[in-house]
Amino acid sequence: MTDSTTRATFGTKLGIIAATAGSAVGLGNIWRFPSQTAQDGGAIFVFVYLACVAFFGAPIVLAEFILGRAGKANSARVYSNLAPRKKFHYFGYFAITAAFLIMGFYMVVAGWTLEYLELSLTGELARMNDFAALFDALRNDAGTQIKWTVVFVLATAGIVAFGVKKGIELASKLMMPLLFLMLIALCVRAVTLPGAGDGLAYLFAPNLENARSAGPRVLTDALGQCFFSLSVGMGCLMTYASYFGKDVRLAKTAGTMASLDTSVALLAGVMIFPTAFALAAQPETMTETLKAGGPGLVFVTIPQLLQSLPGAQIWSVFFFVLLVLASLTSTISLLEVITAFVQEEVRVTIPKPVVRLSKKVRRGDGNAVLRQEYRFSRPFSVLVISAGVIALGVLCSFSLVENSSLKIFGMSIFEFLDFLTAKLMMPIGGIFISLFAGWQLDKKILAAELTVAGTLSLRFFKVYRFLLRYVAPAGICAVLVCGFL
Ligand code: PFF
Repeated sequence: MTDSTTRATFGTKLGIIAATAGSAVGLGNIWRFPSQTAQDGGAIFVFVYLACVAFFGAPIVLAEFILGRAGKANSARVYSNLAPRKKFHYFGYFAITAAFLIMGFYMVVAGWTLEYLELSLTGELARMNDFAALFDALRNDAGTQIKWTVVFVLATAGIVAFGVKKGIELASKLMMPLLFLMLIALCVRAVTLPGAGDGLAYLFAPNLENARSAGPRVLTDALGQCFFSLSVGMGCLMTYASYFGKDVRLAKTAGTMASLDTSVALLAGVMIFPTAFALAAQPETMTETLKAGGPGLVFVTIPQLLQSLPGAQIWSVFFFVLLVLASLTSTISLLEVITAFVQEEVRVTIPKPVVRLSKKVRRGDGNAVLRQEYRFSRPFSVLVISAGVIALGVLCSFSLVENSSLKIFGMSIFEFLDFLTAKLMMPIGGIFISLFAGWQLDKKILAAELTVAGTLSLRFFKVYRFLLRYVAPAGICAVLVCGFL
């Protein structure tokens, strides 16, 4: 077991909220949530999404916190610490693989935000008029995408290499409040535009026709979005919770974090849809336009709409700074999952031949061999992982280029990784976590972690354990089965 006295901890409670919400709030809220909402016809998606957060997402966030703080280690060793001599650490390997695969495509999208930030700063974006062509050109320019992906990976690596307190906590504490302020300012601007009401209705008033055209796919899309947005189901929050102090109230922290994350997603919706409807040339066909927009929604529609606001350049710098910051606090957490694992688990044993020390240590050939064990330092771990992420990012970037043959099941590698991680691996990871915490974890540990300072009732404990044992695993399975049928 890792020595808990030497393991780093977050300095303050604000730091904990900032870091966990910083992980959750990211491109998932601002890029992925609006594009999924648009693809699935608006309000119906939003309601299924909110139900997923309440019944599956938030309870599993809490389970990850419990396991992380009780197990006090990286997301694989947590399992072997809590259930020694069993094979549950494979759940951890699964989670670490998911983190790596997510980073592969996430860093590419984060790279797009840097390109758009540069275009905003130079004023070029404000002067352009065909944003669809601009986004298309970027998708087809593997070189530029790779350049920004590398910059983003290196920026993330720099912060993570400085360690938990100095790097992650400070970065998150500074970035999160700034992000909120920027988002609120943009929302106020959006809802005060004439005609913004249609966009709000699209987002919040369910419409039967839209629901019918979305079909059962809305279930898996919303479930995947819930896990992706909350950073839950793959050991990321478990790793962060291993740095929590004993006095942190886990249920309260989970609730605050899930509410902040959901608010940011909804705010992103409030920022994007009313603006889109208010400034559309043909609002009647807007639903179709949004559906076709997909992953390009933020990168095509928003600059176009921002441009028609007074002071376009300032607004677009504002918006893309927001996106870069949001992405960075999330990539930091993704890299931390794997770094904690590599640093604590990977050992390299190098044989050191020693000439004829004594007969006792001699091998058959007459030479003694001593073995020296090395662990990777934090900076070196970060460096090795970053190299792998860059390689995956390069593949994703090339796969986006038109007519690229880098396809898996008819999807570009980029789309495939998004599909595989968000819609399959994270919900499945969520089932593992929920089953482990509900059935395998010692009931006393579960209760002790939950009721720090005796603030929670036994009734809550029973309901929560029932949810972990039955409701969440069965519900997630049902959603996956119905959505994919
Ligand atoms: N939740 C992040 C977002 O919404 O952008 C993405 C993410 C971060 C997913 C960390 C998973 C994770 F472990």
